[in-house]
Amino acid sequence: MWITGKPCAGWVEYGEEKPTQKAVHADLGLVDAYNLINRITLKGLTPGKKYGYRVSSREILAFEPYKMSWGDRQDSEWFYFTTPDPKAEKVSWIVLNDIHDRPASFSHLLSLVNEFSQDMVFLNGDMFDFETDQQQIIDHLLNPLGELFSTTTPFLFTRGNHENRGVFARQHGLYFENPDNRYYFSFRQGPVHFIVLDTGEDKEDSHEAYQGLVAFDVYREEQARWLAAEIETTAYQQAPFRVVIMHIPTFESGDWHGTMHCRELFNPLFNKGKIDLLICGHTHRYGIHPINEEHHYPLVIGGGPLETRRTVITVTADTNLLELAMLRDDGVKVGELKLNSQHRRKSP
Ligand SMILES: [Fe+2]
Repeated sequence: MWITGKPCAGWVEYGEEKPTQKAVHADLGLVDAYNLINRITLKGLTPGKKYGYRVSSREILAFEPYKMSWGDRQDSEWFYFTTPDPKAEKVSWIVLNDIHDRPASFSHLLSLVNEFSQDMVFLNGDMFDFETDQQQIIDHLLNPLGELFSTTTPFLFTRGNHENRGVFARQHGLYFENPDNRYYFSFRQGPVHFIVLDTGEDKEDSHEAYQGLVAFDVYREEQARWLAAEIETTAYQQAPFRVVIMHIPTFESGDWHGTMHCRELFNPLFNKGKIDLLICGHTHRYGIHPINEEHHYPLVIGGGPLETRRTVITVTADTNLLELAMLRDDGVKVGELKLNSQHRRKSP
C-alpha cells in the first residue's frame, strides 16, 4: 500500500532480482485510477522467498471520457521483502503498543532491539490518541515506520480503544490491510498460530462519551463466537504455539466494562483452548503476569506512552521453545518468559 498526494494510476513491479512482473489492482473490470490510496496484492508468490519490488505512480492531470492527460511518473526505490512461510521452522516478531501520537518513540524503541531482523511488527493498539485526518496517519505512523522498516518488514495493526475515537476513526480501515481484511483474524507463521482480536472501547456502549455511535458489545460477542470455532480447528490444535494479541487485557486492567467484557467472553475460551500466551497493552503499566487460577496462560502487558514507561517486546519461537523479552525504554530488560510447547505435534 502507498499514498500519493495527487490523483494517479499506480502499479507495482516485482521480481526476484529485477523487475520481471507488473501488478495493478482491478475491481469489476476497472483498473484503479484517479485515487490517492493504493492497495495492490501480489499473487502467486512462493512462501519463504526474497523478492524485490518498487511502486510507481503516474499523475492524471485530466480524466476526460475519451482523453486522458498524464503528468509525471514517480518510482520508489527498489526494496526487498521475504514472503511469510507457514512451514518455516522459526518465527520472530516485535510488539509495540500505546505509542499515543509520539512518533519519536518508534525509532527510540526499535533502536533498543539488537539486530532488527524479526519477521514482523505488531502495533498493539493506541498508536494515536484519536484519529483526525490522513496527515496524522502519515506523519505519526506511516512515514516514521517507512523510514524504519515497513518497506521491507510488514506490520500488523491491532486496533486499540483510542483508534475508535475522532472524526477519522471510520476511515482507519482504508489505510491498513490485515489477513481476511478484518480487525480480528488468525494466521499461521512458522510454529505459531496467531490470533488477533479487536477489543473495542473501554467503557460501555451507552456511555455518554460515545453519543450512541458505538456498538462494541455485539462486535465482541461476534468475535467470541468466531474464537469458539477457531479453537476447534485442526490448524489451531496442531500448532506448537497459540499466541493471542489484543489491546485490552482480560485482567490487571481495572474493572471498566471493556476489560470485564473481554474477561467474560474471551477468558473462558483462552483457558479452554489452552493458549500459550496473551500479549496486551492499554494499562500503561508494563508487566508479566504468570499463570494463575483465573487465567491459565501468562499475560504480558506492554507499557507506555511516557518516558520510563515505554516498552518493546521481542519474541522468537521454534517448534519447542518460545522466548519473550520485554525491554524498557532505558534498555533494561524488565521481563522475560520461556515457554515449552505444550502441544507437540504427534509424529506421523
Ligand atoms: Fe488503550
